[in-house]
Parts: sequence; C-alpha cells; structure tokens
Amino acid sequence: MCLVVALCLCVVLGARGCRAYGFRNCIQDMLDPGYFKCMQRFLAEASSATADLPANATALNASLNAIHRLPPGTFARLPALRELSLTHNGLRDVAEGAFEGLPALRSLNLSCNALQGLSAGVFQGLHNLSLLLLHNNHLHTLHPDTFAPLQNLLELELQFNDLGSSEDVAESLWMLPRLECLNLCNNNLISLRSKRSLPASLTVLSICNNSLYGVDGSGQHFLQNIKWLDLSYNKISNVSSFAKVVLRNLTSLQLAGNNVSVFQVLNVSDIQTHSFDYSGLHLNRYSQLVDLCHLLGKSMRPMYSLRLQSNHIRNVSRNAFSACPPILLLDLSRNRLKSVSCVREMLNASAQSQLKTLVVEHNLLNRLRSCSQGDILKELRFISFRFNRILSVGGWAFRYAPNLDRLHLNINNVAYLDRRALWGLRALTELRLDNNLLTDIYKDTFRDLGNLQTLNMRNNHVSVLFPGVLANLGKLRILDLGGNNIRQLTNASFEGLRNLSNLYLDSNHIERISHDLFSPVQDTLQVLDLKGNKIYYISMKPDGPPPFVNLHKVYDLKLQAQQPYGLKIIQPRFFQGLTSLRDLYLSENKLLYVAPNAFDDLRRLRYLMMADSSNGMGDLPPGIFKNLHELVWLDLENAGIRTLTLDVFGNLTKLRNLVLVKNELRTVNSSVMERLARLRYLDLRKCPLTCTCDNVWLQGWLNNSQVQVVYMYNYSCHSGERSFVYSFDTHVCYEDVGLYLFACTFPALLFQMLLPILYHRTYWQLKYRFYVVRAWLSDRWRRGKAETCRFDAFVSYNSCDERWVLEQLVPNLEAGGNPAFRLCLHHRDFQPGKYIIDNIVESIHNSRHTICVISRSYLRSEWCSMEIQLASYRLFDELKDVLVPVFLEEIPERELSAYYRMRKVMLKKTYVTWPPETQAQKLFWAKLRMALAAGTTDEVEGEEGMATYCMEKDSKPILESVNNMAS
Ligand SMILES: *[C@@H]1O[C@H](CO)[C@@H](O)[C@H](O)[C@H]1NC(C)=O
Ligand SMILES: *[C@@H]1O[C@H](CO)[C@@H](O)[C@H](O)[C@H]1NC(C)=O
Ligand SMILES: *[C@@H]1O[C@H](CO)[C@@H](O)[C@H](O)[C@H]1NC(C)=O
Ligand SMILES: *[C@@H]1O[C@H](CO)[C@@H](O)[C@H](O)[C@H]1NC(C)=O
Repeated sequence: MCLVVALCLCVVLGARGCRAYGFRNCIQDMLDPGYFKCMQRFLAEASSATADLPANATALNASLNAIHRLPPGTFARLPALRELSLTHNGLRDVAEGAFEGLPALRSLNLSCNALQGLSAGVFQGLHNLSLLLLHNNHLHTLHPDTFAPLQNLLELELQFNDLGSSEDVAESLWMLPRLECLNLCNNNLISLRSKRSLPASLTVLSICNNSLYGVDGSGQHFLQNIKWLDLSYNKISNVSSFAKVVLRNLTSLQLAGNNVSVFQVLNVSDIQTHSFDYSGLHLNRYSQLVDLCHLLGKSMRPMYSLRLQSNHIRNVSRNAFSACPPILLLDLSRNRLKSVSCVREMLNASAQSQLKTLVVEHNLLNRLRSCSQGDILKELRFISFRFNRILSVGGWAFRYAPNLDRLHLNINNVAYLDRRALWGLRALTELRLDNNLLTDIYKDTFRDLGNLQTLNMRNNHVSVLFPGVLANLGKLRILDLGGNNIRQLTNASFEGLRNLSNLYLDSNHIERISHDLFSPVQDTLQVLDLKGNKIYYISMKPDGPPPFVNLHKVYDLKLQAQQPYGLKIIQPRFFQGLTSLRDLYLSENKLLYVAPNAFDDLRRLRYLMMADSSNGMGDLPPGIFKNLHELVWLDLENAGIRTLTLDVFGNLTKLRNLVLVKNELRTVNSSVMERLARLRYLDLRKCPLTCTCDNVWLQGWLNNSQVQVVYMYNYSCHSGERSFVYSFDTHVCYEDVGLYLFACTFPALLFQMLLPILYHRTYWQLKYRFYVVRAWLSDRWRRGKAETCRFDAFVSYNSCDERWVLEQLVPNLEAGGNPAFRLCLHHRDFQPGKYIIDNIVESIHNSRHTICVISRSYLRSEWCSMEIQLASYRLFDELKDVLVPVFLEEIPERELSAYYRMRKVMLKKTYVTWPPETQAQKLFWAKLRMALAAGTTDEVEGEEGMATYCMEKDSKPILESVNNMAS
C-alpha cells in the first residue's frame, strides 16, 4: 500500500516539471495547430505573445494589442513562421532586424498602425516574403533600402499613408524583381515623376485618391508593363500627359473622379477603348453616350464590359447604345436613373442582343413597370437592381429577359410585387427579394419558377404563407424566410417543395412546432433554422408527438435565442427522430429543465451549442449525453454548470473541444477528464476555480496534459489571494501523504538499523525456528507415526577433540556399560545429501540429549557454537533440558565471558568436567550415564501436535542431582 501511495505521489510531483500545454496569451487553432491567435490581450510587448509558443508555429496573429515597438529579433524564436499579423497595435517603432530569423515568412500584415517611417534594415532576413501590408499607417518617407531584402515580394499595400514623393517610392521599389501588385491609393502623391522606373514585373498599380495632375513619369515606357491601372480620384486635368506614355498594354484603366474628357484622352493616347473604365467621367448626356459608342464602335469585337458607374446619368434613351459594339456586361451603377422602362427604352434589343449581364445598382429606380411583348434579350442571364428604391414591380416586368438565370431585387423598398411580376422566368434559378417590404405572396406569384433553386425573402414583412404559394417551386433547394413576421405555419405552406433541403425561418414569430409541420419536406430537409422565434414550453409533459420526429435527414438544427423568454423546457424525447443531426444550436434559451432523455436519438451529433442557456437550472441531468458518442464539440459557456460528473460527461469519448467558460465550477473532476480521452481543447476561463486540495489534481493535470487549456496561466484562485491555479502552494495537501510516507519508511529504516544487532543476537534462533517450522510442517505429513527418538544423544564436538570422542566417549557409552546408549556422530550418522544444518537440527531433535564436548577449540569453532546454541534453545524455549555440557579442560569463567551464550548456559546449568586422573573418570562416566539415562522411558507426546519431538514431562535439571550425588 505504502509503495502505491509513494508511486502516485511521485507521478503527481514529477508532473510539475513537464512542459505545460496552454499559452499565456495565445490560443492554438484547433484545426490548424500551427496557427496561434493572440488578439486583444492588451499586450505591450510582442515577446509576451511569443515567449511560450512552440518553435514550429507557422502563423501568428497578434492584432489588436498595444505593441508599440519591435526590438531586433523579436520573432527569432519562431523560425517556421509563415504568416504574421500585427495590425491595430499603435506600432510606431520597428527596429532594424526586428524580423530577423524568419526565413519562411510569406505574409506580413502591419496595417492599421502608427508607423511614420521605416529605416533601412527593418525587413532584413525576409527573403521569402510575398505579401507585405503597410496600409493605414502614417508613412511619409521610405528609405531607399527598406524593401531591398524582399526579393520575393509579389504584393505591397501602401494605401492610406502620407507618402508624398514618387521619387522616394520608386527609389525604394525599383529593385524588387518580382513585385506584381502595388497599391498607393490615398496618399499625397502629386506626380509620378522619378529617376527610377517601376519594377518590370509590376502589372497592377493603384494610385487612386491622390493628387496626381498627370501621368508623366520616368520616360515614355514607365507604365508599359502595367495591365491594370487605377488613377481614379486624382486631379488629372492635363490630358496631354497621356500622349507621352505607352498605355497600349493596359486592360483596365480607371480615371473616375478626374476632370478629364474621355474623348480627349482616347484621342491623344494609345490606350485601347475596350480597356477603359468609363465610370466617373461625367458621361451623362445622350450625345456623349452616342459619341462614346461611335468611338467604341470603330472596333468590331464585342465588348466584354461597358462600365459607366458614377456618371450622374439620369436617363438612358432608347438608342443610346445602338451604335455601340455588342456589349456583354453593362454596368450603370451609382447613377441617377429613376427608370429602366423594361430596359427596352434603354437598350436597343436588336443592337444589344448579346447582353448577358445588366447591373443597375445604387440608382434611384422606384418601380419596375409591366412590359408588353416586344423585343427580347435572349442572352440576358443576370440582372441586378440592388440598392435602389423600387417600391413596386408590375406584371411581366421581366418579359424582355425570358432566359434570366439570376435576378437580384434585394435591398429595395418593394412592397408590391404583382402576382404576375415574375411570370415568364422559367429559367430562373436564383431569386433575391430580401430586404424589401413585402407582406404578401400570392398563390401564383411563383407560378413559372419551376427551375428556381434559391429563393431569398429574408427581412420582409411576410406574416402568412398561404397554402400552396410555394407549390410550383418543385426544384427549390434553399428557401430563406428569415426575419419576417410569420406567426403561424401549416404544413400546407410547404406543399410541393419536393427538393427543399435548407429552410430558414429564423427571426419570425413562430410559437409552436407541430410534428407534421414539415411533413411535405421531411424526406429532403437537411438544414432547419428556427433561431430567434417565440417557441417555448411550460409543461414538462409533451402534449403530442415530438416536433421533429419525422425529420430524419436534418443534420443542422438551430433553435437558439427564442424570444423573449427562451425555450424554457426541453420536453422528454424532444429531439426524437433527428437521427442524422450533426449540429444543434440551443444557446440563449434560459432553460429551466431538460429532460434526461431529450438527446437520446442524437447518436450522430457532433456539435452541440448550449452557451448562455441556463436560467438557474444548475447541473444538467445525469445521463443526458449518454448516447452522444460522436460529439466532438460541446459549448457550455455560461450554462450554470457547478460540477463535472461522470453521469453527465462520462460518455463523451470523442469530445475534442469543451467550452466551459463562465460556469460555477470550483473543481474539475479528474475521473471525467480521464474519460474524455480525445479532448484537445478546454476553456475554463472565468470559472471560480479554487486553490484547495480538491484541485491539486487539476494543477498536476494542467501542467502536463495533451489538452490545450485556454489561457491556463491566467486562472487565478477564486479565494482571492493573488495566486494561480496552475501554481498555488499545495504543501498543505501533501502533508498527510508525508505522514504516510514517514509511517512507511520509518519502520523500514529502524529495521535496517537494528538488523545487525538482531542478526548478531538472533541469527541462529531465527534460522533454527525456520528449520523447526519446516520440520514441523514436514512432520505433519508423517503425523500419526509417532516416531521415537532415534538417538540417546547427539554429540557436538570439534574435530580437534575427535580423538577423545572416538577413543573415550563412544566406547564408554555405546559399549562399555549398561544401558548402551545410541550416539549420533556427525561423521557417522548424518544423512548424506542433506544440508548440514538440516542434519544438525534433525539430529538435535532426534536425540534426547545433546552432549557438547567443550574445549577451547570448540568454543572458537563456528559450527560448534551453532550446535550449542541450537541445543540451548530447547533449554530456554521449550523448557527441555537436552544439553549435557562436558568440559574437556578447565576454562575459567572470564574466558567464557567472550562466549555470551555459553556463559548463559553455564550460569543456568551444571556441567561435568573430564578429569585427567583415571579414578575420577569413573565418576565422570557415571554422572554422564545418569544424565543421559534420565527420560529414556517416559516419552510423551507434545500437546501441540509436535508428536515426533522428544519431550520430557519433567524438565528438572538432572545433572544438578547427579552433581549433588557425586559431591
Ligand atoms: C487577425 O486578427 C484580426 C483581428 O481579429 C483579424 O481581423 C484578421 O483577419 C486576422 N488575420 C488573420 C490572418 O487571421
Ligand atoms: C491585414 O489586417 C487587416 C486589418 O486587421 C485586415 O483587414 C486584413 O484582412 C489583413 N489582411 C490579411 C491578408 O491578413
Ligand atoms: C478617398 O479618400 C477619402 C478621404 O480620405 C475617402 O473617404 C474615400 O473613401 C477615398 N476613396 C477611395 C476610392 O479610396
Ligand atoms: C474641369 O476642367 C475644365 C477645363 O478643362 C474647367 O473649365 C472646369 O472648371 C474644371 N472643373 C473642375 C471641377 O475642376
């Protein structure tokens, strides 16, 4: 037991040295483990973020902090970094070599800071950087060598700075061999003049919103490689500068917001007319448009796009574009158009029969009129009238475009949609009517839309879906009715939607879901959004079949945030039937009660969101998650959880992410954590974890687990002391254990200390007892035979005294008198092949007496001393007087004192001494014979089953009486 305790203790203590998992200021992304998010941590030093990140981190986002300066080598710890984002930091000061040691960095985002200048060595070492974002700073000068190390830079964003000198810019960029995109919008550039030319690789150049007055730069060819040039919103009025540069290769040129005449520009420059973006150039008069078309018409090729945004166009007359080459995309956004009059009055359909896309966004269109039969635009596939003021749409409003595929009427004021408005649009697949003022949909509004796949009517004022209104939408897959006023629904509303898979009904006023509501779509429905309705239950007993019982294909169900009181109660078997459900959203529902079997059918569930769901409900009922074996993500933020129990969490064996932010947890249950074998991410922020012995386990676990514990170094002790859960003082908790340890080790120590003494004192005794027990055990097998002693005496002697024994003792006792004694002599009677000690013990026991032939050499002999001791045990322990000491020579007592046990024997017993004189020897033999003769006849059996031992009832010292007799 002690050993186990000690072992456990070592594990607990040992764990404290392991590398922690969890970062002070960063969260590791669970899908991309190389990506670390360290945003909004109020960090003043970048090192606070980087200090504990692993060296193989590939992306770091430390945006939205207060890192004002970057010292040299700030990120050298993270050599594998590929993306670095430091936006919104108020960064002012970047030291030379700040990014040293980042050879793999591809993308560096330093936008939205306070940089005013960049010195020469700032970007040293960034050989592989391809994207550099420096927009929204205060840069006003660029050092010529700043960008020199960036030999692989492809894109540089410098918009929204204070750059005023094109000379500086060109000087710092000309040696970037791969630069393709450069954004210089929103600076203070007044010219493009410079001694250096732009890198030859540059193809996309944006210099919008500056103060350029012309396009003249370093020589005629300085823009010749540019494909896409944005010069909008400058102060270019001097057209002559366009004559001095090669613009032949441009595919797009924007000049919006400059006071130039497009006709003059086209006249003087070699730009191709089709490449021109005609937006923002005050082309609003009919004559201008006609002229433009004539100009464009010189080229016979169809025009991919004609962009006429922001030209203050108020109306477009019928033949305005007749002279134009065939246009595929016409963009009239951001003008002042009030009407497009069936588009026919704007476009000559026969002339523009190839139009595919018409975009008229951000205008003042207020109605779409009914269109009579007439010319059609049979190629027209996409119309967008977003961001207008369209209030009503008349019948057959799109008659001119019978092949329309996508129609965007969203973000208008449409309150009236004629029931025939969309008639004829048999090819339509996508219709957006969202963000309007529609209240009613008529039964045959969607009559012709048999091919519609997506219908978006979000954010209108629809309150009733009349039966059959959607009946013709047999191919509809996505229906978005979110944000309306729908109060009641019946299954007739969904009649005919044979292919519906996604149904959004969020933010309506639905109060009840009956089990047959979705029956027309029950075999196809996959996503159902009921967020933010008014569904609630007050009874714990269901009053009908469970609401989703037939939706066996739904994999995503949103029920969060029911207004205003939340769902309140989740009734028994509430989610029955949702056998395919993967994602379930139940957050913000003020739950009072959840039936323990509510989730029983959700065996496929992977994501369960229950954040902000508790209304003082406390812990979830035991067994609630018992079938959720597939769950990987469980969000229980602010759910009122007080304890983690196996009853609730024990079966979530696949759980990877567990969010427990803002719960009442004081301790974390070790057995639960051990059961969650797949857990990789645990968020315990804002839980009142205590620093008591209950959490000693947690401390150990925090410091060496596989699980990322979000910001684990910031979990402070709830008790208020300024200490932290990961490091609080756990000594008090180990004290008891220490006591156990002491109790375990102290006796062992003591034993070890006493061992030599014990050994010295009791070695033979122990050995003897061991043999006695062995003998006793083996005797039990032979029990009943009641052997008698085989010998009268075992003779213990030293080999030096062998002569005496053989010449005197043996003849005298075995032959020379009556009775004849049987003696046991080791060289003669020991059983061969047995341990010598076994033989000794056995002989002592098989003999009535042990004669010790004591001489000085006897005393010195190891074996003899053992034999005398063994025999003496019988004297002291068994109270059997077996020992017959025979002294061959006089040994004074002081000499004997060295032999502790012998002396003890001497003090207790009388003994016989071998007299040198022959006469005296007679008496000696008599005494000896008498001692041996005692007890030959009266053998008794021991009471305790020691049947074979030779016992004497009378243990009176016999020798004493012999001695007395002799004297
Ligand atoms: C970094 O964080 C900011 C702020 O949250 C975010 O806007 C930006 O997209 C993030 N950048 C990357 C690369 O994830
Ligand atoms: C750079 O940072 C800005 C500001 O946070 C963000 O809007 C932008 O998306 C970022 N760009 C990249 C490529 O990460
Ligand atoms: C031009 O600059 C102004 C003021 O800085 C800004 O509001 C506007 O959005 C910018 N226009 C463009 C096209 O960037
Ligand atoms: C635009 O340029 C013309 C001359 O080309 C000038 O008459 C007019 O005032 C200018 N308009 C603005 C707004 O600068």
